[in-house]
Amino acid sequence: MTTLVTLLSLLLLGALAQHGSDWTYSDGALDQAHWPTEYPLCGGKRQSPINLQRKKVQYNPLLTALNLTGYEAQGGEFPMINNGHTVQISLPPTMRMTAADGTEYIALQMHFHWGGASSEISGSEHTIDGIRYVTEIHVVHYNSKYSSYDIAKNEPDGLAVLAALIEVKEYTENTYYSDFISHLKNVRYAGQSTVLSGLDIQDMLPANLYYYYSYWGSLTTPPCTENVLWFVLSDTVKLSRAQVWKLENSLLDSHNKTLRNDYRRTQPLNNRVVEANFIYHPEYRHHLGVELQFYLRKINSNVEYLKKYIEQKKAKRKSQD
Ligand SMILES: *[C@@H]1O[C@H](CO)[C@@H](O)[C@H](O)[C@H]1NC(C)=O
Ligand SMILES: *[C@@H]1O[C@H](CO)[C@@H](O)[C@H](O)[C@H]1NC(C)=O
Repeated sequence: MTTLVTLLSLLLLGALAQHGSDWTYSDGALDQAHWPTEYPLCGGKRQSPINLQRKKVQYNPLLTALNLTGYEAQGGEFPMINNGHTVQISLPPTMRMTAADGTEYIALQMHFHWGGASSEISGSEHTIDGIRYVTEIHVVHYNSKYSSYDIAKNEPDGLAVLAALIEVKEYTENTYYSDFISHLKNVRYAGQSTVLSGLDIQDMLPANLYYYYSYWGSLTTPPCTENVLWFVLSDTVKLSRAQVWKLENSLLDSHNKTLRNDYRRTQPLNNRVVEANFIYHPEYRHHLGVELQFYLRKINSNVEYLKKYIEQKKAKRKSQD
């Protein structure tokens, strides 16, 4: 494993050296406004992230819960690297996500996007009704019908990302993040890597994994390939302010500048539709999807009951005639 990590770091440092003017979020010639000059796909019509405007989201009752397997606590060694843009944890292919249509996706890596520059602490990529959250977590998967990520990443139905938004809950340390956060100091410099022993992704995700938004978009970093099926969870993760502060202040980019605001601005929706498996109602801040299905079933069974009752009455009257 150590050799693997060393090899990964060497590859990464090699890649960094090769692209002297690597892309950035906000500094230099290749900041996000200029990504399309070097990476034309970044100027496409189906880009991510987007603003999720709740009153325009379309309810789709066929979107059942995602089936996440292998997400629970697991032993082993998980390489974690500062790639100069974010901190990224490699995931084992035993982690899988099956979407409502039966398509199975294999996990590859997870990483974060955060803010922290000057007074601005928000740094999520997706926004909800214009609100930017503090941090966003992405679990990147590829379609299991392809033999590897490298093949899938160029296919139109190649990728799926499970995303969750993080909120600050002032003085509440989220102990599920303690191990990850305590390892950040080991990956201070771009290209450095460390190893997490044991991982429980399920605990690092929101408690409610049932409700999500879904739409077709792209990678949010160059080359911005438009082949990503997005699942943005509706529930959020809560971290303490101190934990978020550590995430925002522990890593340096390849120029030894503190890695902050590593998020892409929201992109035009154009003619895409965002779906969700719940109904948003501004007056009820809970999810109506399941309740609605429950009441529809109840109404249907009452209708069935009434039909039978009427049939019986008719039959009785006939027999009396
Ligand atoms: C979830 O997916 C796994 C493997 O992909 C499968 O074995 C299992 O039956 C699925 N569970 C449900 C409830 O569909
Ligand atoms: C960043 O800092 C480290 C440690 O001081 C140093 O070895 C490295 O050369 C620096 N990198 C740059 C790009 O300045």
